[in-house]
Amino acid sequence: MYRKDRKEEYYTKKAKKEGYPARSVYKLKEIDETFGVIKEGDLVLDLGSAPGSWLSYISKKAGKVYGIDENETEIGGDNIVFIRKDINDESVLDMIRGLKFDSVVADLSPKTTGIRFLDSGLSLELSERAFFIAKKVLKEGGDFVCKIFESQESSDFIKSIGPSFKMIKRFRPKAVLRKSKEFYIVAKGFKKSKLTLGDCSESSFCVKVK
Ligand SMILES: C[S@@+](CC[C@H](N)C(=O)[O-])C[C@H]1O[C@@H](n2cnc3c(N)ncnc32)[C@H](O)[C@@H]1O
Repeated sequence: MYRKDRKEEYYTKKAKKEGYPARSVYKLKEIDETFGVIKEGDLVLDLGSAPGSWLSYISKKAGKVYGIDENETEIGGDNIVFIRKDINDESVLDMIRGLKFDSVVADLSPKTTGIRFLDSGLSLELSERAFFIAKKVLKEGGDFVCKIFESQESSDFIKSIGPSFKMIKRFRPKAVLRKSKEFYIVAKGFKKSKLTLGDCSESSFCVKVK
């Protein structure tokens, strides 16, 4: 029979005790305590937000949070707007068009197959989509946090988005399980002026290169 490892058990119990629906909250908490990505009054976009522990954490600190997930969440509140959609659905961009976010955070996980290169490819696709959305809606100087699975392509992805930020780092919070291939990209200080011409072909509301 499958047995949870001790770390998983520890964080799951802690989350339950503290009223969060998932132990992943401790990953965001550590990222936030280390890099300061969620601030009082912020407008935050949370991609892949079900079951809702990041939403809950963010709503306690920020001004308002938009969450998007293809699955439902039971977390709600006056400063939470939840959109049940696949992030690849083009209508998602229409629903948040015109908003300018201080931070975009993405804890997206693909439906894993157990085949490493396939899973890392699926994770990369989600991260690329998350960045595509982030660059449409992030404020100048905004922050981007994104889960991704380790691979050569994930390193290339980090290199490719690096010039769009003042600072970019890989970070593996303590709550990530030892067997997991995931880590987080933490990028601060979004620079809209670094967008390339290629970005304009992907959407009708592109930002022109300076
Ligand atoms: C690890 S969970 C996120 C946990 C969340 N941060 C929390 O603290 O409760 C990953 C989420 O990504 C979502 N997801 C994966 N692919 C998606 C897609 N294409 N569109 C929307 N959500 C997606 C899944 O439905 C799942 O809820």
